[in-house]
Amino acid sequence: MQALTGFRDFFPEACARRNRVFQSWRRTASRHGFVEYDGPPLESLELFTRKSGPEIVKQLYNFVDKGEREVAFRAEMTPTFARMVGARHRDFRKPIKWFAIPQLMRYERPQKGRLREHFQFNADLVGFGTPAEDAEMIALLVDALRDLGLGAGDFRVRLSSRAVWHAALEAIGVPVGAHGGVFDVVDKLERVEAAQSDAKLGALGLGAGEIAKVRAVCGAADLGAAAAAVGGLGEAGEWLQEVVRSLQGLGAGDCVAVDLGIVRGLAYYTGVVFEAFALGADRKYDGRAVAGGGRYDDLLKNLAGVALPAVGFGMGDVVLGQLLEEKGLAGAGGASGRVFVAWPGEGFREAALGIVRRLREAGFCTEYPLRSQGLGKQLEAAENAGAGCVVIVGDDLASGMVDVKWMADRRQERVAVDRLEDTLAQLNPAN
Ligand code: HAM
Repeated sequence: MQALTGFRDFFPEACARRNRVFQSWRRTASRHGFVEYDGPPLESLELFTRKSGPEIVKQLYNFVDKGEREVAFRAEMTPTFARMVGARHRDFRKPIKWFAIPQLMRYERPQKGRLREHFQFNADLVGFGTPAEDAEMIALLVDALRDLGLGAGDFRVRLSSRAVWHAALEAIGVPVGAHGGVFDVVDKLERVEAAQSDAKLGALGLGAGEIAKVRAVCGAADLGAAAAAVGGLGEAGEWLQEVVRSLQGLGAGDCVAVDLGIVRGLAYYTGVVFEAFALGADRKYDGRAVAGGGRYDDLLKNLAGVALPAVGFGMGDVVLGQLLEEKGLAGAGGASGRVFVAWPGEGFREAALGIVRRLREAGFCTEYPLRSQGLGKQLEAAENAGAGCVVIVGDDLASGMVDVKWMADRRQERVAVDRLEDTLAQLNPAN
């Protein structure tokens, strides 16, 4: 029997890769002052149907449980986050800066970079509603990718704003009631034939001149060009400009580009929206989204009855994993963190176990032979266990010395037992 289509088995190697990514996410989040939380994997269906929008609702894994309740596996973390913050927001000082690493399930067609389950680094901030908060979230996203070894040549955050789009559509003369429909078309513009998109915009009541302006905003090289296309973007434009300035100040500017072609598919976004895409060999977008997010100032009010502005993003592990693999960044960095303790005869076992205990207490993953074997066989076992080095305990222990054999280059050195932990410190504990 195999795992279900779109679901993954994580054999130890894959689990080790996953853990390295999770460790990096946790490290980066705490560097930015975010703390970890979690929620239940199963929620009431209504939590998702209320505000996430039709795309995600179509993709829900939902069923009626034995108590006749309509339930769904979490397809995204944001509704749970809003529900939890809404329930206890008075207990926490603002800004609330929380992150989680949930496994999410979406019933979508499996394809390169999209599966039916994925893990998502999900970070959100409930604060005061400022451009500085938007910039801080995007800086966290950029930092998370940089911490994994990726740089400006590997990905780009496309930065946009639904508030800017509302201002632009108002300037173009599109009635507010049609804005949502235009967003749906803009969201798919890059994936759908031009004639089909134009027909949809036409059905929303836009004439040829208006459609041309919508396309000009989508394709504008920067905010100035977009403003020029519609005759000004007002306060929403200034807000976005401030986000850009803060990102430059935070050193993330080279990884971010204003791009109003992004509006995002989820229904609850109200302001700044952004999406990080992988760059192909030609440094062009290859359609694979690594992360996406935005400001959602009404969701907490709608779901929990508390008017609190919020901004956040989700970064999936699937496209990210592919990208790290392609760039040679997925594997171990440095020598494996495992130590194997070996000895040339059973008479040394007891003394060697003392070393095993000491190394384990110092935090090293330490293994040793569980049956009587010659030294050659033990070295083979060390190799099979993926050890970075072997500590050989023999006669010299009486004079306080052991041998350390490094598995990568087979180098062997004599080390004072007192200094063993220092010598082994060069092993990479993450592997
Ligand atoms: P999203 O754009 O739906 O946003 O997902 C964020 C990221 O999760 C995507 O860019 C992608 O890397 C990954 N992802 C989504 N679906 C799949 C899938 N089927 N297979 C593999 N990876 C996937 C949200 O989920 C928002 N709730 C993010 C957010 C948090 N907004 C505010 N706070």
